[in-house]
Amino acid sequence: MAARDEGKRGARGEGGEDARRDAGADPRPPDGARDGDDSPEDREEVAIAAVDLVTALARLDLEAALAYDAAAGLCDDGELADRLREFAKDHRVHLEALNEALEAEGEPAVAAPETPVLAGLVQVTGPLGDEVIVVTLLGNEQLTNLSYDAALSYEWDQDTEAMLRRFQQDEERHIAWLAQKHDALGGHAEHPDAPSS
Ligand SMILES: [Fe+2]
Repeated sequence: MAARDEGKRGARGEGGEDARRDAGADPRPPDGARDGDDSPEDREEVAIAAVDLVTALARLDLEAALAYDAAAGLCDDGELADRLREFAKDHRVHLEALNEALEAEGEPAVAAPETPVLAGLVQVTGPLGDEVIVVTLLGNEQLTNLSYDAALSYEWDQDTEAMLRRFQQDEERHIAWLAQKHDALGGHAEHPDAPSS
């Protein structure tokens, strides 16, 4: 899981290959988030642990999976439900791999939350129909897509980066399919005009 210390966003420290082998090497936020001083002291101050990034992704993947399961149980369109269950499975594959990476670093795996947030949102919007369910899931996918984009703006070791890129591609596929489905359903929720009297 070690992240590199050179390139787009690097790990703290000057280790180069050593940092790549260091399981504790941590990626850093973008240059714009720093004061311009690239001293080791400043790097230490703003360093983000690689395990914290992976834990955040794992939590989000789990939340997304639970939301898809909830949505599949609420929507009327059987084809839509089947596809949502497939997407839930994708997110669980991500979760399992991310948890394995965490456990390899001696970190706790991410477990199911007591109160899922994204699934809770689906429960709120579900009664409004399939189109609103799809829009809710599109919002979730914006979160997961942007989160993988953000994580990949750090420099990772080759294996971790390859894994994150695969998962990012899944996220791009999910959001593209949902956007098409939204259009097929009429896309009305894209134009929240006030109801006419
Ligand atoms: Fe997704």
